[in-house]
Amino acid sequence: MNLDAENINKLGALLDGKSAYERWVEEQGVPTLKTFFLHDLDEVALGPWERKGGRGAIINLEGTGDTDDAYICELTGSGKSSPERHFYEELVYVLEGRGATTIWQEGGSKQTFEWQAGSLFVIPFNAWFQHFNGSGNQVARYIAFTSAPLMMNLINDPEFIFNCPYVFRNRFDGEADYFKGAGSYYGKQIWDVNFIANIHDLSLKESEERGRGNRTTIIEIGCSALIAHMSQFSVGRYKKAHRHAAGAQIILLEGEGYSLLWPEGSAPKRCEWKPNSVISPPDQWFHQHFNTSERETRYLAIRWNSKKYKVFKDIVDRSVKEGGTQIEYEDEDPKIRRDFEAELAQRGIKSRMG
Ligand SMILES: [Fe+2]
Repeated sequence: MNLDAENINKLGALLDGKSAYERWVEEQGVPTLKTFFLHDLDEVALGPWERKGGRGAIINLEGTGDTDDAYICELTGSGKSSPERHFYEELVYVLEGRGATTIWQEGGSKQTFEWQAGSLFVIPFNAWFQHFNGSGNQVARYIAFTSAPLMMNLINDPEFIFNCPYVFRNRFDGEADYFKGAGSYYGKQIWDVNFIANIHDLSLKESEERGRGNRTTIIEIGCSALIAHMSQFSVGRYKKAHRHAAGAQIILLEGEGYSLLWPEGSAPKRCEWKPNSVISPPDQWFHQHFNTSERETRYLAIRWNSKKYKVFKDIVDRSVKEGGTQIEYEDEDPKIRRDFEAELAQRGIKSRMG
């Protein structure tokens, strides 16, 4: 754009220090939460969100580095969202209630699937979708994780983001069983699937390389670069520290404990968590998760670093001594285990770190 008199006002509006994504967020007119750590999703204040057909809030965790975001939406009564499509990725995890979603490609036939609390599914990239509450007297509430910040700031054109006619048939071509199939496993613990009825029912795969007694399933979903994994670590144990690029958003599902997060050379920051807490480790900060409860701890992480669709390449399960980004137990600061075991002793729980 030229800096002539005709354009100067328009250009002036763009020199407000805000990103394209931040301007879009303001236009939504819903509460926006910017925080390092979210202790309880249930405590987030929601406001009316017309486009989404109910009440909602946008969540920007500092650790995401503006690569991805999250939003909560709550539908009541006969609430339904307006049909929309968008040029960014979106994964939906249902927190409460039940409902249905209709998905279709431009000019293609519609298909509808039902979901409930615990469901996880993908909105195929740039496909049309519409959500419906499934019960007249119950609330349906979900959290969605999207790559909107990255895509909006790169493209800087809302008309393109929300009205691009291109159909990504390599991601979704109207297959009738797209949201019904059992998916397929490949590799040791990678599950390729587009809809999971209830992630709480999953039996996870052994993953000792990330920690003693750790179990993990990586969920490659919708041919998306933004994927998920579920991790479980047992009573009296903690995971190994590692680090990677920004963008991981971790929602605690079961158990209690804490996480330590630190940039190399600095003292750790500690976050106490419980079910429905959300953590996002900042870019290349080491982070380590500890189970201090009397039950297995489980979390769902939404993150980059798909095995199939690479954006950021991090080797997160190999020692820093071998070119990876993980600190093995024998290499960590001894204070980490001392503090953990002291905390377990206070709670009357036996350490199982060996
Ligand atoms: Fe991580």
